[in-house]
Amino acid sequence: MKKIKHALMSSMMSLICLKSYGQWSAEKAHDLIYQGHDRSDCFKKIVQNAFGDEFPEDVDGFSFVTLTDLKETAEHLNIGPGDRLVDLGCGRGGPGMWIARKTGSDLIGIDISTSALASAKKRLMNFGLDGRADFRLGNFYDTGLTNCSCNGATSIDALWHAPDKSRALDEIARILKPNARLVFTTWDGNIPFMPKDHKGLLENSGFKVEVYRETPGWKERQLAVYHGILDTKEVLIQEMGKKHAIPMIKEAKSVIPVLDTSLRVFVVARKR
Ligand SMILES: C[S@@+](CC[C@H](N)C(=O)[O-])C[C@H]1O[C@@H](n2cnc3c(N)ncnc32)[C@H](O)[C@@H]1O
Repeated sequence: MKKIKHALMSSMMSLICLKSYGQWSAEKAHDLIYQGHDRSDCFKKIVQNAFGDEFPEDVDGFSFVTLTDLKETAEHLNIGPGDRLVDLGCGRGGPGMWIARKTGSDLIGIDISTSALASAKKRLMNFGLDGRADFRLGNFYDTGLTNCSCNGATSIDALWHAPDKSRALDEIARILKPNARLVFTTWDGNIPFMPKDHKGLLENSGFKVEVYRETPGWKERQLAVYHGILDTKEVLIQEMGKKHAIPMIKEAKSVIPVLDTSLRVFVVARKR
């Protein structure tokens, strides 16, 4: 039954990817975006303008993460030197590396995009994490990590890519030690595959929800970034290359109409 549910969800996800990313799979689309991202000053400026004081300078993420999100994530994780943090859907590694630097923890970043992981590895030295961080190919359903091996988990704006949230949350619960926290941002509501809220799913996977709230100012920032992308699409295509810029342009077009019925949330959940 679980296999059928997963197969159905995977095909639905492929349809959504087709709508957002054209002919590419999520892996391929993200590889293309990240290859282009490395070449684009324009994209960084769009985010910087939209975020103002909340722009986390050296993070250079591919998300809507703010300085406040990062500080609060580091605080709530309650980890320190010698502890192991896992960042799921880590992208180019910025948010996880920022938190590991702040807390003194070790870091494992996991993502489906080999291009993102290659960039993350190159950026390790910038965060002074050489020898304390590792980036690995994996996904929400199969992290490759052993049971109870992590003291904390984070995921920034990435869980919406996993159609089967329960399966992803079960996997995160499996790799966390008892009482360790999962601190993440994602969306509730009308973005494809997002539940009305994640509280019940978290409880069912063995978490106690400690904090669940909307992130202040998220919609204004997200709209500003998407309109920035659409307003400068010619420059982005020139800097990144057409096939690299198109997935971002498609995401901007397809997500703007559903933002009014969505909510970006900051969540802290403790493994029981
Ligand atoms: C919006 S980006 C956020 C990246 C990073 N967290 C940041 O803040 O810069 C979403 C990330 O999720 C990754 N991703 C998509 N599907 C995934 C999956 N099934 N398992 C793990 N990562 C996935 C993508 O490759 C991408 O890097």
